Amino acid sequence: MSEQSKEYPAVRLLGHRRVPLLEDTRVSQPAEYDAIATAYQDSKQLPFRQYVERYTLFDLLGDVRGKAVLDVACGEGFYTRLIKQAEAAEVTGVDISAAMIQLAEEEEQRHPLGCRYLQRDVAQFEPPSPVDVVVAMYLLSYASSREMLYRFCQVCYAALRSGGRLVGIKDNSHSPLVSSAALAKYGIERTAAAPSAEGDAVRYTLTNEGGQKFSFTNFFFKPETYEDAFRTAGFREFEWVPVTVHPAQRHNPFWADFLRDQPLIAFSALK
Ligand SMILES: C[S@@+](CC[C@H](N)C(=O)[O-])C[C@H]1O[C@@H](n2cnc3c(N)ncnc32)[C@H](O)[C@@H]1O
Repeated sequence: MSEQSKEYPAVRLLGHRRVPLLEDTRVSQPAEYDAIATAYQDSKQLPFRQYVERYTLFDLLGDVRGKAVLDVACGEGFYTRLIKQAEAAEVTGVDISAAMIQLAEEEEQRHPLGCRYLQRDVAQFEPPSPVDVVVAMYLLSYASSREMLYRFCQVCYAALRSGGRLVGIKDNSHSPLVSSAALAKYGIERTAAAPSAEGDAVRYTLTNEGGQKFSFTNFFFKPETYEDAFRTAGFREFEWVPVTVHPAQRHNPFWADFLRDQPLIAFSALK
């Protein structure tokens, strides 16, 4: 672990307990990303996306050459494309937002990579064939109820072959989600009830490089609730992984506040 990153206890869940799929497969919230799709796409230019988010994900993913990958909540396909360019054999992106999928498909038409996209609610998704890796970049932050969170984990589990891995990043609910002025220089504003209770809304406003602002809502659940959702879905191992900064930026003091009050956290789970 980098000496700059805050230390969180890694959680390992070694019990293997299969449960039947939950009855409650309620439909997720309406696709708020339809209204903010292009602003979200532009936010990928923010430095934290490249030097923290992207670096942490690929560090965690390791070698994806020849692997079958499912990218759940793929958005406009930013990581779907990068994973395919990293020589994954096949990558399918799934997202509930028609506008996000349209952006992804337009990019695929402009620069064909062989990525496949499906507009689906992950809570309703029936994975067609088992994959080696499921990538869940921010999906879990959109679970507005415990049932939905457990359902997301079940779908990710069902999509994997035995021995396959789920990796992802979500907003960080380990530290209290206080509104944090220190995050403004990274283009991030966060508004949340303090203390936050299970299921509370957490409002984020991002400011893009060009000054454009856009907002979206995530939901708070305690780390233990996520851990139970992974265990209940059947994952053999689960661990939280602190985000890290790209080595080229490690000594840049710009990142000190980001690493002190890490707004993001990664995770890895093994089927
Ligand atoms: C923060 S964006 C992340 C996009 C992409 N993973 C990335 O990192 O660039 C969150 C995405 O989750 C999608 N999403 C939210 N709830 C979903 C659901 N129930 N099923 C599928 N996608 C969902 C949104 O439409 C949005 O595109």
